[in-house]
Amino acid sequence: MATAMRKLAVVTGASSGIGLELAKIAAKEAYDLIVVADEDEINYAADELRRSAVNVEAIRADLATSEGVTALIESIKGHSSQIELLMANAGAGLGHGFLDQDLDRIRHIINTNITGTMQLIHAVGNIMRDQGSGRILITGSIAGFMPGAFQAVYNGTKAYLNSFSFALRNELKDSGVTVTCLMPGATDTKFFERADMLDTSVGQSKKDDPADVAQVGFDAMMDREGDVVSGLKNKVMAAVANVTPAEMLAEQHRKMAEPGSGKH
Ligand SMILES: NC(=O)c1ccc[n+]([C@@H]2O[C@H](COP(=O)([O-])OP(=O)(O)OC[C@H]3O[C@@H](n4cnc5c(N)ncnc54)[C@H](OP(=O)(O)O)[C@@H]3O)[C@@H](O)[C@H]2O)c1
Repeated sequence: MATAMRKLAVVTGASSGIGLELAKIAAKEAYDLIVVADEDEINYAADELRRSAVNVEAIRADLATSEGVTALIESIKGHSSQIELLMANAGAGLGHGFLDQDLDRIRHIINTNITGTMQLIHAVGNIMRDQGSGRILITGSIAGFMPGAFQAVYNGTKAYLNSFSFALRNELKDSGVTVTCLMPGATDTKFFERADMLDTSVGQSKKDDPADVAQVGFDAMMDREGDVVSGLKNKVMAAVANVTPAEMLAEQHRKMAEPGSGKH
């Protein structure tokens, strides 16, 4: 009797936060996993995921680089299981005014959030289209609806991903492959610390639980939805942003993200 082909899920940025929670859900659903991040922590995350008795491969790669993404693509192609889920979640933010930011860090943010994500989705999207099945989840953000004064580059990358996601979804509509965009609001992860935004109002605000956010995104991907904003408050923010002038949104964002805007 032929055994059923095992199915593979790939999660980028799976060492912490939303990505780790997405990987835990995929493990619970009995997918084989490839998990990826830039630092050693990905190996600890993989050990934790293996407790769900699934096959887990951990890859340490800088997804801001072409070499890093190529290494991941080679692992996906060489894997014995067929890729069914791609969760392109790796991403990072960067606080402070644009002119005060370091240009190398700016490049790294753009290359992680956009360029590396494009290279990965281009390769995996082709594999999925050829096999006639697959689901792609892109972690965008409600930040993509607002010009992000004091986080301008990051919000721009998320506006790109929010838009790209719907465009690719449309192109693939008869292919068996679906694309879903998860748009979280402020979530309790390492994100704000890494973006050097702990002294901002948004950095100090009450945040969503990454496990809840991941579940909302995973369910939307499995239901082949176009997008999902996690949480009622964020849904209201997204709806209001759609009808608010950009000038006003940028001013509101300044109040949330300007260094020192948090309570002392
Ligand atoms: N937290 C929020 O408020 C929020 C809101 C909306 C959207 N998001 C999005 O959610 C996604 C996950 O972020 P998070 O909040 O869960 O933050 P997080 O805890 O900082 O997780 C980010 C993950 O991405 C990985 N990563 C970052 N740059 C990478 C690179 N160049 N190469 C490989 N891996 C890289 C990190 O691994 P390393 O530590 O190894 O670099 C980590 O695993 C991001 O796309 C973020 O933009 C977050």
